[in-house]
Amino acid sequence: METAEQGFIQIFQVSKAYDTLDGHTKKAPYVLENVNLKINKGEFHILLGPSGCGKSTLLSLIAGYIPKSGGSIRVDGKEISKPGEDRGVVFQNADSAIFPWLTVRGNVEFGLKIKGIRSRERHSISSQYITLVGLEEHVKKYPNELSGGMKQRLQIARSLANDSEILIMDEPFGALDAHNRRLMQIELVKIWKQTKKTIIFVTHDITEAILLGQRISIMSKSPEATIYKIYDVGLNYPRNVTSKGFNELFEKVQGHFDYGQHI
Ligand SMILES: Nc1ncnc2c1ncn2[C@@H]1O[C@H](COP(=O)(O)OP(=O)(O)O)[C@@H](O)[C@H]1O
Ligand SMILES: [Mg+2]
Repeated sequence: METAEQGFIQIFQVSKAYDTLDGHTKKAPYVLENVNLKINKGEFHILLGPSGCGKSTLLSLIAGYIPKSGGSIRVDGKEISKPGEDRGVVFQNADSAIFPWLTVRGNVEFGLKIKGIRSRERHSISSQYITLVGLEEHVKKYPNELSGGMKQRLQIARSLANDSEILIMDEPFGALDAHNRRLMQIELVKIWKQTKKTIIFVTHDITEAILLGQRISIMSKSPEATIYKIYDVGLNYPRNVTSKGFNELFEKVQGHFDYGQHI
């Protein structure tokens, strides 16, 4: 029997098939098959794989949004079956995640309000995280007044204010231009260092994976996708593409994309 200390998040033999429309008559294909992964507390972990391989499906399972078809997912020793405050999700499309009728502060305080935290304390918690993500000059703005990068900062602040131990991020910078993506990557590493959160970050971008992660899990193609290789990045932060060892790792990882998809 595994103990929680050996892996804060434990994914064991996880499989997922979405239901087909005709239900019983046709067996649904397995998007994920026998995925195994252990993530340590405070780790910055990357899930890397080609488009359509099942990255979002795996994140949705960890977030508790959809039921798994087999296997087990535990956080801190407890089986996951539904969403929880321990896991905050940052989506690529911020517009579907943040409330357009609430200001920056209103969005960050939303969960705190539901929990019944009083106004003064809410204000102090939200101020702390709004400042941490660099939105302090924009507290009174509504989402439609924010840039793409600012909306992603807002999603991150909201998860942190809710005290989520785990940040689950699904290609959060995928819609940003190259300059803002780089700025957000640098910011995220800073936020991770300051808050010591556990981050599971999905990307299909090898450079982004190596710039951010302590470990990188590489997924094979769907159907029956699985994690077939895990790299320890082992480069010091802050990183950039000229960091020693960057190219070497890039080529290794890219090798899997070129030749390794079907193993
Ligand atoms: N709700 C759903 N119902 C049926 N099939 C789905 C659903 N969501 C995703 N899929 C299928 O599962 C596979 C993996 O999708 P996804 O997890 O979104 O991949 P990724 O995030 O890596 O691009 C794809 O073939 C996709 O069409
Ligand atoms: Mg996806």
